[in-house]
Amino acid sequence: MKITIIGTGYVGLVTGTCFAEVGHKVICVDCDAAKIKLLQEGGVPIYEPGLEELIQKNAASGRLAFRTSTREGVEQSDVIFIAVPTPPLPDGSVDLSFMEGVARDIADAMTSYKIVVDKSTVPVKTGEKVSETIRRYCKSRVEVDVVSNPEFLREGFAVEDFLKPDRVVIGVRSQRPVTALREIYAPFNCPIIVTDIHSAELIKHAANSFLALKISYINAISVLCEASGANVQEVANGIGMDHRIGRAFLDASLGFGGSCFPKDLSAFIKISEQLGYDFGLLKEVQKINAQQMDRFFKKIVDTLWVLKEKTVGVLGLAFKQNTDDIRMSPAMELCHRLRKEGAILRVHDPQAMEKAKAVLPNVTYVSDMNSVADGCDALVVATEWPQFKKLDLDRVRKVMTHPIMFDGRNMFDLEEMERLGFIYKSIGRQCQS
Ligand code: UGA
Repeated sequence: MKITIIGTGYVGLVTGTCFAEVGHKVICVDCDAAKIKLLQEGGVPIYEPGLEELIQKNAASGRLAFRTSTREGVEQSDVIFIAVPTPPLPDGSVDLSFMEGVARDIADAMTSYKIVVDKSTVPVKTGEKVSETIRRYCKSRVEVDVVSNPEFLREGFAVEDFLKPDRVVIGVRSQRPVTALREIYAPFNCPIIVTDIHSAELIKHAANSFLALKISYINAISVLCEASGANVQEVANGIGMDHRIGRAFLDASLGFGGSCFPKDLSAFIKISEQLGYDFGLLKEVQKINAQQMDRFFKKIVDTLWVLKEKTVGVLGLAFKQNTDDIRMSPAMELCHRLRKEGAILRVHDPQAMEKAKAVLPNVTYVSDMNSVADGCDALVVATEWPQFKKLDLDRVRKVMTHPIMFDGRNMFDLEEMERLGFIYKSIGRQCQS
């Protein structure tokens, strides 16, 4: 199939690259000329494992091209995917101006029937609006089918998730575009669910909100674990082995972040409100998440007392492992709070330090994770990078002024930390001895 993807963010770039990888001919369009130039020269604007190799391979084979012109993309393709940002407005609702703008650009360039597929996360009924907009602005009066095809990839595992999806959801207003969409996704060998367009749009917000709810649920349980002496990891394993519950997304933490869950929760609450329903459950999910950060920060303050001029090492800046993305990162939030209290910070992240430098000045960026602890009064683990598990704990303890560690990701073994002589405070667990 000939496919155009408009928008080369995490979703658009991964989608375009993976479609090319399975044999489709893809044009990725973005209005950011500098980004397109970088991509044309073989560079990648984001860190995502495996992506760079796939882009280079598919660009070299001629199946993947990068352009700034929507017109060119629309003229040369049968199916056009929209993967533009849908950022939050101050009241929590979704800014759909990029969607509207792209719909108008597509309409302007269309001279024959096209299938327009929305991949961005949007409020239910957006597809209807996109369809109306294209029909209104298309001078050549050709037919269009608008489809909703929400994306479920996770940053840090984006290529893997895209190539091996649990399911593909296709939401349509008529059966006409279904054959083409099935053909596009046939190489992925996964279940394809065809629904009405409203359901497909709702599935995305419902899925993300449910995952966020799972995290807040286990974080609430972690509070009970701390109060009772239980261990949240044991509880998560115990409930997660029930296949109706599942173990995934039951890792207690200092809270979830990123560009999706916080934004999508606010949007879903707002959408529900507009549909006449007060989604109080999701408000509680948000509240628990905010409290989790407060509780973690309080643990640090309670232990160190005055933070002013104390040296604190922070491991992790990205909002999660395997990414350089610091948007709405709990780790960054923590750093800002520590700085505000006057702490001197030594920070490290395997990928996110460059991005962090622009928004977190006056801290020491340390390139080696083991050296972060040098001279520190305390060390904080804020992101679940797997390599942090390989920290040379013996060395870390020796170089710290005080061997105090706050682990917001439950990375280390409680007994081992005690044996090594650390004062070790994690989430929802404590040493029994
Ligand atoms: C999330 C969804 O998982 C994807 O399915 C969805 O496609 C994506 O949003 C999106 O809407 O674009 P993502 O934000 O990339 O993906 O990252 P997640 O792996 O979901 O992690 C989100 C946050 O939750 C991170 O801060 C992570 O550290 C935290 N988390 C995750 C926990 O605190 N505990 C867990 O058990 C799992």
